[in-house]
Amino acid sequence: LMKYLVANWKMNSVDLDLWEKNFLKVIGSEKDFPKSHEVKLIICLNLYDYQLFSKKIQSSKNQIFQNIILYAQDVSRYKEGAHTGQISSHYLKNIGLEGSIVGHSELRENGDTENIVFQKGLKLKEQGLSNIFCIGEDLVTLESNEKKSFLLNQLKAFCKKDVKPDLLAYEPIWAIGTGIEADSENIKSSVSIINDFLEQKKINTSILYGGSVSVENILEIIAIPGIEGCLVGNSSLDGEQFAIIASKITG
Ligand code: 13P
Repeated sequence: LMKYLVANWKMNSVDLDLWEKNFLKVIGSEKDFPKSHEVKLIICLNLYDYQLFSKKIQSSKNQIFQNIILYAQDVSRYKEGAHTGQISSHYLKNIGLEGSIVGHSELRENGDTENIVFQKGLKLKEQGLSNIFCIGEDLVTLESNEKKSFLLNQLKAFCKKDVKPDLLAYEPIWAIGTGIEADSENIKSSVSIINDFLEQKKINTSILYGGSVSVENILEIIAIPGIEGCLVGNSSLDGEQFAIIASKITG
């Protein structure tokens, strides 16, 4: 079964030469580094880095590095026009990106409603681009036992018409950037809520976990039944750590 490791570089500055060097150092020393058909590596980056990094990928002689797939971190819900600062799915497609994250909690916090997230998914689909659809509850929702209805509401709002998650990332907000990864019981119960919904809707997609994933906890997280990959923020900013996580993800 294919596993997925997705880096979300967010708005951090990454030294691209150093990232590549550190990534390749691990690949060179790991004889059993998973092959590209075993783990798909995706990096979600800003469009300036994209221009530079895609050139590195194209000119690389390393097969694993060459196979890294590049996604945007956001897309406009509009087709085109007077929307200052936004980037259309059409533009993402034209410059060669393969997809984008939608519904990340940091964008939901910034005003992306369920409907806006759906519209963004629709725009990607219209261009034949893939989405990584993020959902996840905050601490108040978790502690007031409202996780299930909260997650179902996010899922229902997105899975309409022809839109569906191409990859679905479960990222509890309280675990993002905090160093506190969700405990496996919580992840398991969320996976079962999500899977019941997907089965009902006959949607086939892989579920990823995100939130403080690191070299230290990757083995524990990837061992949870139903988790087929991870979405990694902080630990993806260093090519070495990202590669070590990748090397452990096939279990
Ligand atoms: P951290 O791995 O830094 O917690 O970020 C998770 C995340 O939000 C990935 O999209």
